[in-house]
Amino acid sequence: MTFKEKYGDWAIVTGASSGLGVEYAKQLAGRGLNVVLVARRAELLEKLADEIKTTNNIEVKVVPLDLSKQGFIDELKTQVEGLNIGLIVNNAGINCEGDFYRGDLRRNLNMLHLNVEAPFIIAYEFGKKLVERGHGGIIFTASSSAFQATPYLSHYGATKSYILSLAESMNYEFGTKGVDVIALCPGFTESEMTKGLKGSPLLMKAAPVVQTGIDNLGKKAFVVAGIGNKVQTFMTQRVLGRDLSRVVTGSLMGRVFNRANKKKK
Ligand SMILES: NC(=O)c1ccc[n+]([C@@H]2O[C@H](COP(=O)([O-])OP(=O)(O)OC[C@H]3O[C@@H](n4cnc5c(N)ncnc54)[C@H](OP(=O)(O)O)[C@@H]3O)[C@@H](O)[C@H]2O)c1
Repeated sequence: MTFKEKYGDWAIVTGASSGLGVEYAKQLAGRGLNVVLVARRAELLEKLADEIKTTNNIEVKVVPLDLSKQGFIDELKTQVEGLNIGLIVNNAGINCEGDFYRGDLRRNLNMLHLNVEAPFIIAYEFGKKLVERGHGGIIFTASSSAFQATPYLSHYGATKSYILSLAESMNYEFGTKGVDVIALCPGFTESEMTKGLKGSPLLMKAAPVVQTGIDNLGKKAFVVAGIGNKVQTFMTQRVLGRDLSRVVTGSLMGRVFNRANKKKK
């Protein structure tokens, strides 16, 4: 089966108004898939839709939707009714950085809904349909922070550990049903989320990050983007162990976010 036969006719990409989501949409359109673009900012989605429709001769559906709101799934299912969905990209996400105890509770709860609840509900509802169809795929955007404790990104890292674990288990179960599941684990990547780190050598471009995820769909249960992040993950997983990883990561994150905060002022 070609990529288009296996994962077409349509892919749903959440968080498609900026950063990695824009790149997923472009690359999937480039592989001939029609794309459903989901995020809150309709005008950005419309602009992207115009661009990828004309460049790739595909169809695009724009679905402005807040995925952190209760009941969003009914709206999403209604909007895509009748479309032959073959690929889900569970990508939308926000972060909460800095001292855990100073974080805003409402934003943290919103992150929990968006980063954990929404991708779970989407994977549950559309996963059933993909299994019935007998072929298709689900890509989750996790993070390199999923592999170890991440002080100063504590709750965000925990949401991504959930996603990584879910994706790995689903990969095993769905593998026997013809449905490929993968977690893409980026490190720091250029996007709106990392605008405070602009110019930092730590940042990867979104295009190679997303390509790593798409290229490894059907091959791996998870993939870390970029050689630097791969080395870091190898070190935390295989060399340092959980206790030392927590200390080293905490020290690094403390420095990264202090620097980012200073730049913002
Ligand atoms: N950038 C990094 O360094 C990095 C590293 C590891 C993992 N990631 C993950 O990559 C994914 C994409 O993030 P990004 O880096 O591309 O950040 P981004 O540029 O800020 O994009 C986030 C996307 O999520 C959407 N979104 C936010 N709140 C939403 C809501 N309530 N309902 C629907 N959509 C919502 C945003 O669109 P609207 O604002 O228009 O709704 C936007 O399209 C996230 O899961 C993030 O955790 C990023």
